Amino acid sequence: MKLKSFATFHLVLLNGLCSLPASSQEYPCPPPGAEALVDGENLVENCKCFYALAAAQKQDQSDTPTQIKEHTVMHYAPAGKYYGPDGITEYLSALSGDHVTATTQIGPSIPGYVRSIGNGQCHTLTAESQNMHLNPYHTVNNTEACASMTVGVRVTFNITDDPFEPIDVQSYEIWTPNLFVTEMFSLFSRSEASAEYICDKILNVCGDYENGKSDSWDYSMKNGRSEGGVRGLKKSKSAKASKSAKMNEKMKNCVKQAIALPDVTIGADGVTGFIDGNSRACRILHGFMAKNNQHHCPHVSFDPEVDADGKIKCNESAGILHTDVFTQEDIAFFILMGQAAFGFDEVGGRMTYEPCSVV
Ligand SMILES: *[C@@H]1O[C@H](CO)[C@@H](O)[C@H](O)[C@H]1NC(C)=O
Ligand SMILES: *[C@@H]1O[C@H](CO)[C@@H](O)[C@H](O)[C@H]1NC(C)=O
Ligand SMILES: *[C@@H]1O[C@H](CO)[C@@H](O)[C@H](O)[C@H]1NC(C)=O
Repeated sequence: MKLKSFATFHLVLLNGLCSLPASSQEYPCPPPGAEALVDGENLVENCKCFYALAAAQKQDQSDTPTQIKEHTVMHYAPAGKYYGPDGITEYLSALSGDHVTATTQIGPSIPGYVRSIGNGQCHTLTAESQNMHLNPYHTVNNTEACASMTVGVRVTFNITDDPFEPIDVQSYEIWTPNLFVTEMFSLFSRSEASAEYICDKILNVCGDYENGKSDSWDYSMKNGRSEGGVRGLKKSKSAKASKSAKMNEKMKNCVKQAIALPDVTIGADGVTGFIDGNSRACRILHGFMAKNNQHHCPHVSFDPEVDADGKIKCNESAGILHTDVFTQEDIAFFILMGQAAFGFDEVGGRMTYEPCSVV
């Protein structure tokens, strides 16, 4: 599968490479024009990483998919880890889902470095700018909003011997400014609509409270993407009736319980926002995923419930910080590129209270 939403290795390196003779074994090191990307102590190893990545990118351009294997992990510190093609796709689908209806990259991806980390493994760092289009149906006061921010990506990959799959991606680590959680996610998790959304998933999708039958409200917004304005508002007729007074009562109680939760989890530093704690934000994310995969139902419930993998989610945040995942140098690169290339301030992004401009 191909990673559509985030960094697809837009390294500015291919033109030179394509003109090399196919038989050439000795690629120049450092690569002409990309010296800054592969500088550092282990120049020879870094060059191997660079050329493996370039070969993978070349295949990508000829439409050979980048392989995401069962062992590939995507890690976004405030929300947790997602595994394999299914888990990663599902997770990224939330960025073109009910609350964020579309995520569009503005401008190019900016490469930071390609480096060996030893044992045939490599890191590559890129920064890109993304606009996240928020669905005003779900936001506080139905506010129109666009969240724009630098998204940093570090890819860890192994160099392989397979010319058709020159790299084997181990992990994608994603960085965003804190505002992704504390301003963007919080803008829709603070709303009453978010409590209703969660309770729809608990009662109608997951069938908790012995509801049994699935009688989902239609938040799917199929065909609604291009219309702009308020989308996904219509509830299906059957749901509108809410079936019975008993169901109404359950819904009311559930919404009350959901509203009592914090919108997002704030860490011990009083500043850092998390999506993986006992919050509405966490239940929105997993509620969205539960629509297509009931595996997530235990995550949405109010009481901690063990899922099929023996994991409990949306209870206690793991409290992982971006600084646990990225070096200070990596983060400095994201912030610097945000300022130099994407026009953000030192925060690395901004909220704009109007629809994203469509590029
Ligand atoms: C990637 O490389 C590391 C270090 O050499 C190794 O431990 C790991 O098993 C490799 N992964 C795969 C899928 O080959
Ligand atoms: C929502 O609207 C109400 C009434 O106009 C206002 O008091 C409140 O501050 C608004 N909330 C937000 C978060 O904008
Ligand atoms: C859920 O979180 C609370 C506190 O945040 C903790 O005391 C409790 O043990 C957790 N429950 C489970 C089942 O992990």
